Amino acid sequence: MTKIPIAQPSTGNEEENAATAVIRSGMLAQGPAVAQFEKEFAEYTTTRHAIAVNSGTAALHAALACAGIQSGDEVVVPTFSFFASASCVSMCGATPVFVDVDAKTFTINPDRVAEAVTKKTKAVIGVHLFGQPFDIHPILEICEDHNLSLIEDAAQAHGAKYHKKKTGGFGKAGCFSFYPTKNMTTGEGGMITTDDDAYAATIRKFINHGQSEKYRHTMIGYNYRMTDISGAIGQEQLKKLSMFNERRISHAAYLDSHLHVKGLITPYRMPESDHVYHQYVIRITPAFPLQRADLIAYLADRGIGTAVHYPVPIHQQPVYAAQNKSTSCPVAERLCKEVLSLPVHPNVTDPMLKTICTTINGVI
Ligand SMILES: Cc1ncc(COP(=O)(O)O)c(C=O)c1O
Repeated sequence: MTKIPIAQPSTGNEEENAATAVIRSGMLAQGPAVAQFEKEFAEYTTTRHAIAVNSGTAALHAALACAGIQSGDEVVVPTFSFFASASCVSMCGATPVFVDVDAKTFTINPDRVAEAVTKKTKAVIGVHLFGQPFDIHPILEICEDHNLSLIEDAAQAHGAKYHKKKTGGFGKAGCFSFYPTKNMTTGEGGMITTDDDAYAATIRKFINHGQSEKYRHTMIGYNYRMTDISGAIGQEQLKKLSMFNERRISHAAYLDSHLHVKGLITPYRMPESDHVYHQYVIRITPAFPLQRADLIAYLADRGIGTAVHYPVPIHQQPVYAAQNKSTSCPVAERLCKEVLSLPVHPNVTDPMLKTICTTINGVI
């Protein structure tokens, strides 16, 4: 039986050779490979600065902390996302204020953001979820009206576009992840993009122990540096990113046009967006012939991997539930019960796509 994993990194000889060259050079920590990767990523995202770090979570923490987010501040966050979209706020000692998402796009709902702003609000984190940019313009407007920083969580959206412009260049900062399931990987890793020179300089200090020069520490910082091994792998992955995204987009188009079961809703793509399908997320609504859990088991028995992104909205996670008892996000709460991610990554082949569709269509 063909196994079709839900995620699989696409690496080859190029990444192996690049990593080996760094190991043989003896310069394993941060050095010229990271500098080159940062230069190329800034060019790719058309931003003035790209600062490499060792995870997407580190990118979000650094972006918020260096934007001045601290204890007593509130940051508006969509509750339907990966946990790190909100935990980075708590890392700064601030309070995440959870808002609901749009039922069609699954991304942060601008109307809910407007309602959530208070005198304490200092920033909004928008998540380009599953590879689709959130509706950026209305949220930028709210941020401008209230003097808030917009942080783009672009961990799942390398190369995605909104009105033809790439993610990472709209807000005060764009934060990317290079975890192995992502559209490109460095093993673990992350990147912060920004057009603000002074802010970029502060972030560079923050991710390197707050050092302004060697052994002179002018702020409390962290060791969030990327290694040169990761930087070398990142350069090779970036060369392949457009090809990876094209494969994801073409797989999604196949799934869109071949999945036909009552109660199964395929992903919505905003006309103003270029979606890069980090995940292909369907909804299994009550009209579908099986419960979601039964469909997952049925597909697993037939070698098809799936995943639920995400089973619990962040405001209901044990660590946040007590403070958010009165928070109501009905769309996210329903989505958590209905969503199911199907394999869409670049290693999925045409026969695999056919198997996925015929197997799902065969449930009736
Ligand atoms: C939306 C989102 N934000 C942040 C992160 C954190 O990235 P990392 O796992 O590289 O720390 C992820 C990674 O899963 C993510 O999907």
